[in-house]
Amino acid sequence: MNISVIGGTGYVGLTVAVCLANKGHLVFCVGRNEEKVSKINRGVPIIYEENLEKLLKDALEKKKLVATTNMKDAVKKSDVSFICVGTQSMEDGRIDLRQVESVSVGMGQALREKESYHVVTVKSTVVPGTTEDFVIPILEKFSGKKAGVDFGVCMNPEFLREGRAIGDFLFPKDTGIVIGELDERSGSFLSEIFKEFDGEIFRTSLRCAEMIKYARNSYLAKDVSFANEIANICQKMGVDYLGVKKGMEMDVRIGKGRFLDAGVGFGGSCFPKDVRALVTKSAQVGVDPQMLEVTLKVNEEQPFVAVKLIKQVWGNLKGKKIAVLGTAFKPGTDDMREAPAIKVVNGLLAEGAEVWVYDPKALANAREIFGDTVFYGEKAEEALSEAEGCIIVTEWPEFAEANLYRAMKGKVIVDGRRVLDPAELPPGFRYHAVGFPRVVET
Ligand code: UGA
Repeated sequence: MNISVIGGTGYVGLTVAVCLANKGHLVFCVGRNEEKVSKINRGVPIIYEENLEKLLKDALEKKKLVATTNMKDAVKKSDVSFICVGTQSMEDGRIDLRQVESVSVGMGQALREKESYHVVTVKSTVVPGTTEDFVIPILEKFSGKKAGVDFGVCMNPEFLREGRAIGDFLFPKDTGIVIGELDERSGSFLSEIFKEFDGEIFRTSLRCAEMIKYARNSYLAKDVSFANEIANICQKMGVDYLGVKKGMEMDVRIGKGRFLDAGVGFGGSCFPKDVRALVTKSAQVGVDPQMLEVTLKVNEEQPFVAVKLIKQVWGNLKGKKIAVLGTAFKPGTDDMREAPAIKVVNGLLAEGAEVWVYDPKALANAREIFGDTVFYGEKAEEALSEAEGCIIVTEWPEFAEANLYRAMKGKVIVDGRRVLDPAELPPGFRYHAVGFPRVVET
């Protein structure tokens, strides 16, 4: 098939475009920014995502992917288009639909000039009802055609985890594929793309597909906040949360692979935004979403647990040199959207600390966010060399190497993600961790 991916220069869009090209489709990767588009055409993936660069280069070599700023042309040349633009949170928690709106207008205009059948697929995360009540009316207005008759419409939520997005897309065995369809023809047409994927396909209504995405992310975010709350209680009650987690996972009704890693909270472009959007939407329809509210409240506070732990060591942090290891919201990505590291760094700065940050992939983004309020280490050792204490915020594998901390000037470590085994640390260290009631002195 010929496929256009609108928003193809973003995290989701580029992954989707490259993966579909890898499956043999001809993909038009549509973005607004000329510079990004030209980089993609030269094989430069613009974001960090494992294997993305290789797959992009393969697709370009096989002439299966073309990046372009011309959406109209791309839509006219393709059979299916995926809308993958961002739906960021607004001040009041609602999602910002401006990009979805402008893409729908452009897509409607393209459909007006198109003879053959085309399926518009919303992949952006949008609250239930958006595709039917917002996208379709715009498409119909600007195309002068009727959805479900002249063109098809689907909603296909994405279940990609940053850092593993390529694998999640190509092998959706663990997540399945959800296709919300306006009518049978739309759904069958879109299903063709996914029929050889190893993953169950669930066809349902547009609204149900939209809600599935919110329900899944809210469920997982709730688990993270639950884990953090239990870990905070454990810390005060002399219990190591890691043992509790292991014991919980032994119960098959809970099981392994749940989102039960406690730490400094969840971040990223999805969980915080999606839970907030569902809270706002629920309130609009007259439901008081208490569990969702608490999920956010626990998460709001959680990064400061690590700051409090390190503050306890000296009583106050004025003038203390503290290294923050990891600024990406999780390992495997350079993404810092709503990263817990932002709150940790700001919390340390508010206490008067001098902060050094290091991240293997996200330093450029960190510079944009923190500017000259902090110092940057090009290597972990550089950030640590002046540090009296450090907080591990992102569980990059390199931070689990105990010898790394020999580079520190001081000897205080707060492990915000339980990556280190304190028994492996050289002598003279004080090790604290979230959900860990003791202080290990090595
Ligand atoms: C999440 C979902 O896992 C994907 O299924 C979904 O497609 C995606 O959002 C999306 O909506 O686009 P992602 O945000 O990339 O994926 O990352 P996760 O691995 O889910 O982690 C989210 C946050 O929760 C991270 O900050 C992570 O550190 C934190 N987390 C996760 C924990 O603190 N503890 C855990 O046990 C798991």
